[in-house]
Amino acid sequence: MKVLIFLALLGFQGAAAVTHSMKYFYTASSQVPNFPEFVAVGMVDEVQMYYCNSKTRRAEIKQDWMNKVTADDPQYWETQSSVCLSTQHVFKVSTETLKQCFNQTGGVHIYQEMYGCEWDDETGEVTGYYQYSYDGEDFISFDLKTETFIAPTSQALITKNKWDRNKGYMAQQKNYLTQICPDWLKKYVNYGKSSLLRTVPPSVSLLQKTPSSPVSCHATGFYPDRASMSWRKDGEEIHEDVDHGEILPNHDGSFQIRVDLNISSVKPEDWSRYDCVFQFSGVKKDVITKLDKAEIRTNWGKNEIKSNEAMGMMIYIIIIIIIIIAVVVLLVLNGVNGFIIYRNENGEKKTDGDQTEKRHISPANSCDESNPMKSKH
Ligand SMILES: *[C@@H]1O[C@H](CO)[C@@H](O)[C@H](O)[C@H]1NC(C)=O
Ligand SMILES: *[C@@H]1O[C@H](CO)[C@@H](O)[C@H](O)[C@H]1NC(C)=O
Repeated sequence: MKVLIFLALLGFQGAAAVTHSMKYFYTASSQVPNFPEFVAVGMVDEVQMYYCNSKTRRAEIKQDWMNKVTADDPQYWETQSSVCLSTQHVFKVSTETLKQCFNQTGGVHIYQEMYGCEWDDETGEVTGYYQYSYDGEDFISFDLKTETFIAPTSQALITKNKWDRNKGYMAQQKNYLTQICPDWLKKYVNYGKSSLLRTVPPSVSLLQKTPSSPVSCHATGFYPDRASMSWRKDGEEIHEDVDHGEILPNHDGSFQIRVDLNISSVKPEDWSRYDCVFQFSGVKKDVITKLDKAEIRTNWGKNEIKSNEAMGMMIYIIIIIIIIIAVVVLLVLNGVNGFIIYRNENGEKKTDGDQTEKRHISPANSCDESNPMKSKH
């Protein structure tokens, strides 16, 4: 068992993730039944780690590794909860203001902000953005290069002018995107590295519904989602007769993708010239699956028994994998606990990690120059 776990760990580690991202989504809604008026979601590398809404009014952990934040900063969740509350108030005011800007008296309306930063861990390059939308349309966004807001609609012009003129606010916004956001992104990636930086290769199957259907190359169980898949003929990527599916999330945090090849015009003797290739971006190891009739899993004819057998085998393998993962998780958790206790006993303290992430707080919108209530900075 030990050898197996060791091999599994070796196999799952060691890929180069290049660009890391952190983003927050704020959604304020009015008159949407059974939905909180305000919802905040935080993601690191597309994995949700933070959640807060106007009903629970408390920031919540969404990943176990976020517990490491409180080891460095016990106040972290209190501070984040109060940021959530104050943001909620600003968003409520903004949504009411926007309804007036657009001459609306009631009904369902949604005001959203998405902001965050990306950090390239090879070049060190950092980019950031703030984007706002109203009822699903772009409302206003920040251009970090020119340090101005962009207003695609006339209703956003007054807000743009107010925010652009406020130099103190502008400096804070820039500081958040270029300093605070990437600093915290690096910390979060470090807290979650055993999970975020893992690479899990897919299991790839060839599937076909009927003898005349396209052959679907289906990869599932892989992580991260920075991946692509294609069909090749004689080693060259082909686009004709190929239908690409999107990368979709699985419930366990892994991903799946499919690419279909219409084989109706492929002669039987040419089948061996085709293969399906799965690639993680930035990682050289491709997973190549040859187009082979014997390997296609179908729902018809003799293959049915085969695929049932394969199902049985799959379930057996899945059970073994679950047991291995459970053991690995236990080992890792023990390791982490040991590490935290060790650190505490040694009184080790991080020099730069004690400050809570000072999250960006949006100002309210305005569409009426004369009403000071609506330009709270
Ligand atoms: C908003 O409503 C007022 C009064 O009903 C009307 O005079 C005005 O033209 C409307 N403005 C827009 C932008 O539709
Ligand atoms: C596959 O290609 C054939 C001929 O090239 C076409 O008639 C058929 O509609 C295609 N099937 C699909 C599912 O696109």
